[in-house]
Amino acid sequence: MDELKRGLLASDAWIAPKFFYDLLGSRLFAAITALPEYYPPRVEAEILTTYRKEIAQALGTRATLIDLGAGNCEKVAGLFPILQPAQYVAVDISVDFLRDALDHLSRQYPDTDMVGVGVDFSTQLNLPADVSDKRRTFFYLGSSIGNFPAAEAVPLLERLRRNMGAEGGLLIGMDLVKPIATLEAAYDDALGVTAAFNRNVLLHINRILVSDFKLEDWRHVALFNPQASRIEMHLEALREVRVTWPGGERLFAAQERIHTENSYKYTPESARTLLQQAGFMAKQVWTDPMGYFALIYATPSRV
Ligand SMILES: C[S@@+](CC[C@H](N)C(=O)[O-])C[C@H]1O[C@@H](n2cnc3c(N)ncnc32)[C@H](O)[C@@H]1O
Repeated sequence: MDELKRGLLASDAWIAPKFFYDLLGSRLFAAITALPEYYPPRVEAEILTTYRKEIAQALGTRATLIDLGAGNCEKVAGLFPILQPAQYVAVDISVDFLRDALDHLSRQYPDTDMVGVGVDFSTQLNLPADVSDKRRTFFYLGSSIGNFPAAEAVPLLERLRRNMGAEGGLLIGMDLVKPIATLEAAYDDALGVTAAFNRNVLLHINRILVSDFKLEDWRHVALFNPQASRIEMHLEALREVRVTWPGGERLFAAQERIHTENSYKYTPESARTLLQQAGFMAKQVWTDPMGYFALIYATPSRV
């Protein structure tokens, strides 16, 4: 609540992207992954399939697989037959969606030990005692690390490193710089699903803050910021809008924006540098033929 109010009252208003993911937001994200313009999940899944044997060789079998921001759990579950996890731990802030995904998955793999953890890992990562500490392999897929500037991504990755111990590893998906038209189309699809995903954050916030955002006052904006090498998503006020909640309010001028998401785009070098800064060494990097996306296996270079 405090974080939300702080963001709404800031001179350049912002909402953290984790608030996208109520139940409807998670379902809208699942729909986004089926859009022709939104290449990241498709390309990441292709890399996972193409290099599944090499990936399995790097990660080994019978590890504890910890899926950060697991969503529908599909990508990591696709590797169960080859990785044979000793335990699968799905971590996500969207708990109702996660529960449904794990119910479904445990019917498919009744012999695999599974744990669901509903936490916001952007600030801390205390895993419950039933999560095994043997050979922890973290998966951080979907280029979700790109939601954080380096000043927040590095501490987050350091928390993962401390959580995995010297024997652990990290398989991370990172989206790469590419032509601007391709990037902007991926975040502003013709069908308007990403626009709905972005605007839905206001409905989620109305429930949390008891605020009175009206969808018809806001439009979706997605643009590439080349200086910062990131896609930015915003909500732009279509007219002057006063938003109120118990004990507070904010007046937005017409065309004033609320910044809702950053999605940083890396080069293979800047991806490695980010990992190095957090005490990881990139052991293997897999990409697709177009060089759109990188999947990196990294291990701790210090404990
Ligand atoms: C871009 S989706 C990726 C889903 C899945 N890993 C994939 O690659 O298809 C991001 C996921 O992370 C979750 N998430 C976002 N921010 C989070 C946070 N701070 N703590 C926990 N989960 C978070 C969302 O609920 C969502 O399921």
